[in-house]
Amino acid sequence: MSTENRTRAVTTFRLTEMKQRGEKISMLTAYDYSMAKILDAAGIDVILVGDSAANVMAGFETTVPMTLEHMIYHGRSVARAVDRALVVVDLPFGTYQGNSKEALASAVRIMKETEADAVKMEGGEEIIESVERILSAGIPVMGHLGLTPQAIHKYGTYTVRAKEKEEADKLVRDAHLLEDAGCFGVVLEKIPAELGARVASELRMPVIGIGAGGGVDGQVLVVHDMLGINNEFSPRFLRRYANLHEIMTGAFRQYIDDVKNGDFPNQTEQY
Ligand code: KIV
Repeated sequence: MSTENRTRAVTTFRLTEMKQRGEKISMLTAYDYSMAKILDAAGIDVILVGDSAANVMAGFETTVPMTLEHMIYHGRSVARAVDRALVVVDLPFGTYQGNSKEALASAVRIMKETEADAVKMEGGEEIIESVERILSAGIPVMGHLGLTPQAIHKYGTYTVRAKEKEEADKLVRDAHLLEDAGCFGVVLEKIPAELGARVASELRMPVIGIGAGGGVDGQVLVVHDMLGINNEFSPRFLRRYANLHEIMTGAFRQYIDDVKNGDFPNQTEQY
């Protein structure tokens, strides 16, 4: 465990101020030191150490297998790199849903062992006791509603959520519950844009969307998806800012050729 402890420039308070003055919040995921360092230097507001590490780093089909140890490893690697952005770490499946005492113990481990600034948790009313207990210990909590990938085995699909009134009403109630409990923000994933805008206008805390339209207070994407490293995942909400799959494949092929041909290393690349 690192002995260093820092306060970063972007705080939960700063995010609330951004919402108040209508400044959109930028958020991306990172799971390792090098990526986090580039993101932080580029000026991102929030770095999420998402349990999507399960998919893009570990190759699992769902986020369910992630453990607290996995998240601590990724969280610590990211936090070590970041001076400015707020660092939020996902509490993985099975570490907070059961009982609030266990939830607090999980969140305390994340905070002590990673030096992140906050934790994120999926769910509303069902987990509110855990959320409240973690908040009462002084740990900032971000909620996550709409499509909640940790519950994939309950719903069986990753399609758009809260299209029907009943589910939309519950989502709005849950968002208010999280705000009233003291959360500093909430992620809304894959819901109708109109619902995203409604929640953002009703809440004081920032609402960050992923597939929740442009009427929310900020946006988050999985960094591997927006960089086009993974070219097999193309939901409508994803905008690709690069095609690193193609660039990396080209570089790897060139390297392989250079090694096979004896072009690498050349005279200036040896001692
Ligand atoms: O784990 C993750 O990357 C997330 C984002 C999709 C919001 O929760």
